Amino acid sequence: MILMRAVQATSFGAPSVLTVTELPDPVPGPGEIAIDVTHSAVGLVDVLMRRGVFKDQPGMPQPPYVPGLEVAGTVRAIGAGVTGFTPGEPVVSMSAAGTGGYASVYVAPAALVVSTAGYGIEPGLAVSVVPNAAMAHVALTQVAHLAEGESVLVHGALGGFSAAFPGIARQLGASRVVGTVRTGKLAAAADTRLPYDKIVDSADLSTALADEKFDVVIDPVGGQLRTRSLSLLRPGGRLIAAGNASDDWTHQIDSNQLWLGSVTISGFNAGAFLPTHPQHIRPALRAALTAVAAGLGETVVDVLPFREAAIAHQRMEDRTLRGRLVLTSADRS
Ligand SMILES: NC(=O)c1ccc[n+]([C@@H]2O[C@H](COP(=O)([O-])OP(=O)(O)OC[C@H]3O[C@@H](n4cnc5c(N)ncnc54)[C@H](OP(=O)(O)O)[C@@H]3O)[C@@H](O)[C@H]2O)c1
Repeated sequence: MILMRAVQATSFGAPSVLTVTELPDPVPGPGEIAIDVTHSAVGLVDVLMRRGVFKDQPGMPQPPYVPGLEVAGTVRAIGAGVTGFTPGEPVVSMSAAGTGGYASVYVAPAALVVSTAGYGIEPGLAVSVVPNAAMAHVALTQVAHLAEGESVLVHGALGGFSAAFPGIARQLGASRVVGTVRTGKLAAAADTRLPYDKIVDSADLSTALADEKFDVVIDPVGGQLRTRSLSLLRPGGRLIAAGNASDDWTHQIDSNQLWLGSVTISGFNAGAFLPTHPQHIRPALRAALTAVAAGLGETVVDVLPFREAAIAHQRMEDRTLRGRLVLTSADRS
């Protein structure tokens, strides 16, 4: 039997449950592609899953499982019925429902894989930004209905998911894109190459933003920042609840604030939305590739070997990261 290298979560718990192992080499079924993985993205959702936050929800993985939702690499094998891909071609795969990304071979539905050939995007950057930028494209076009000339505020501006929004907002013709970060990330914000007009301290929004209002707020942070954001919307404005990095699972919204401010809150969860709206995936991936190739997704990427997966998760929990963390299977030492 041929074996691949993978990082496995052996139980729910601390980062130390992540161990490198060997598992049977997966082969693609009909409609699928097997990818020789060079880079696997690490996201906050991987950390939440590993801690067991979603363990009682139907369909969520149970240990032992291989974490990871997005990979970059080259086409290894093509399943029956798949056209348009060539073995060896560089590709990136966006989140499917499951797991399996922290492995040297990953099998993905072909519909979620896109070729990066000709775009000149490094695989570490590709896996860090292209899947999130595709999701940002869907969120901004299909949920926020961003119109040309509108303004956008992005919370957690340097976070993995958030970092994909300014480039796509620019591509869609936003007139202004402002980010917010916590005080400790202001220095990193000053150095960022992401296309924000400015980045302000989320602890002091009223001073930092004066009376500025926005048409769209992207909020993967949640908690009290979500409530405070309602007063930052213009009448007709839309807040997109897109995550809960604050870990505040009891937060509530007063619906009368929506009425009085004449504003809307919509949820966006790619894992729920894309399977029921698959027609938006290809255009979003193309837009994402174009944006990243144009330099609109220049987030900081730190690459760690598989054997440091636990360190990567610890850094996510400690918040000692500058942008995105990516694991590589290439380092076998
Ligand atoms: N809707 C979707 O389809 C989708 C897709 C991807 C991710 N997500 C969700 O989006 C969230 C972020 O994921 P990610 O992978 O981007 O995580 P990440 O890279 O760790 O980024 C999280 C961001 O949130 C900020 N943050 C955390 N707690 C905060 C607080 N209390 N106040 C202000 N800012 C805070 C962080 O700032 P610091 O660096 O200062 O800690 C960081 O900028 C998660 O809930 C994830 O599940 C949703």
